[in-house]
Amino acid sequence: MSRITRRLLGNTRFYAPWKALAQYPDYWWWIVRGKPVHPPHRFKQKTVLDYARRFSLRTLVEAGTYYGEMVHATLAAFDQIYTIELDHRLAALARRRFMKSPQVHVFEGDSQEMIPKILEEVNHPSLFWLDAGYYGWDQQMGDRGRLTSELRAILSHAIPGHVILMDDAHGLSGRNGAPTFAELKMGIEGEFPGRKVDVAYNIVRICGS
Ligand SMILES: C[S@@+](CC[C@H](N)C(=O)[O-])C[C@H]1O[C@@H](n2cnc3c(N)ncnc32)[C@H](O)[C@@H]1O
Repeated sequence: MSRITRRLLGNTRFYAPWKALAQYPDYWWWIVRGKPVHPPHRFKQKTVLDYARRFSLRTLVEAGTYYGEMVHATLAAFDQIYTIELDHRLAALARRRFMKSPQVHVFEGDSQEMIPKILEEVNHPSLFWLDAGYYGWDQQMGDRGRLTSELRAILSHAIPGHVILMDDAHGLSGRNGAPTFAELKMGIEGEFPGRKVDVAYNIVRICGS
């Protein structure tokens, strides 16, 4: 779907049901093509749900709400969902979309500032879905140290056992101020012994405690 169509449809009540239906052909087409490295959104939803189940996590913290597709797809799996969106229009849209879901908390602002705020409220091991265009979003680069600062805040939090999934691992390219995946892995596993960092299907996974 083009950005313009998404922008037009995104404000209407047709968007959510349309996206929910359209993701299935996308997903099967991806499987038919032999699961190339960039998966469709349905696979990302399954990954989030799978990690939540595997580690018995009932709180989701998402950086980058966009149109609320991940929140919508995982509503039934979590007791609390915190989602952070920098863009005022998208944050307002998400507030409207989830106004009848009291377990969803939409935070408007920069994830680098909001994650430490949310961590003050979190008192259980939680699943983090970091998906806020860390190395470029909408042709803007933003703060290049944002990802490592958020990872450090989560991994040094008083509650042990948070699990982190980060989308768009291809951004860890070693270019334009981004670390490479190998540098990120070495940095985290060195600073937080017991943590294991790996990547599959363009999603970085950080587990252990
Ligand atoms: C790829 S989309 C997120 C998709 C969503 N997580 C999902 O799975 O449906 C990236 C979102 O991150 C937002 N974003 C970009 N920079 C941000 C920042 N510094 N803090 C919070 N959100 C940001 C963008 O406005 C955009 O809505």
